Amino acid sequence: MKKLSILFVCLGNICRSPMAEGVLNQLIAEMGLDRDINVDSAATHNYHNHAQPDKRACLVAKAYGVDITNQRSRQITEGDFDKFDLIISMDKDNYQNLIRKSKQSHQKIKQLADYLDNSNYSYIPDPYYGNLSDFENSYLLIRSAVKALLITLTEK
Ligand code: 4NP
Repeated sequence: MKKLSILFVCLGNICRSPMAEGVLNQLIAEMGLDRDINVDSAATHNYHNHAQPDKRACLVAKAYGVDITNQRSRQITEGDFDKFDLIISMDKDNYQNLIRKSKQSHQKIKQLADYLDNSNYSYIPDPYYGNLSDFENSYLLIRSAVKALLITLTEK
């Protein structure tokens, strides 16, 4: 398998994309793929630069055995569009924002929900203004989609 760098992106990089980064890192560790896949996450905006993930995201991830407390929010940079092989957005607004920001080929920019089979969701809902069960709903969607993404990558 060719070494791959994957960047998950959402609006603030404190809820959805940190959960995606944590889930994928855990699966990578479980499958012994540490040398094959590199993961990071970023925000399209700078509202929460350097912030720890939202407490509710940390709590839900921890309940599923994933520690995301060491992550810190950062805004996507121009260099990220070169550095990463796949840039995966949590929803359409951020996807369109990434397409606007990118001076490169848009082929590497994807939406995470596109990896969900048989789902009613075409995007990962933003849980920021919701409650803990909204975070859990987004976490479980992210986990399903990230598992499906990993299958497509390891089958190559
Ligand atoms: P995220 O959630 O994009 O999943 O990290 C949000 C975080 C912060 C805000 C909105 C969504 N905000 O408006 O500050």
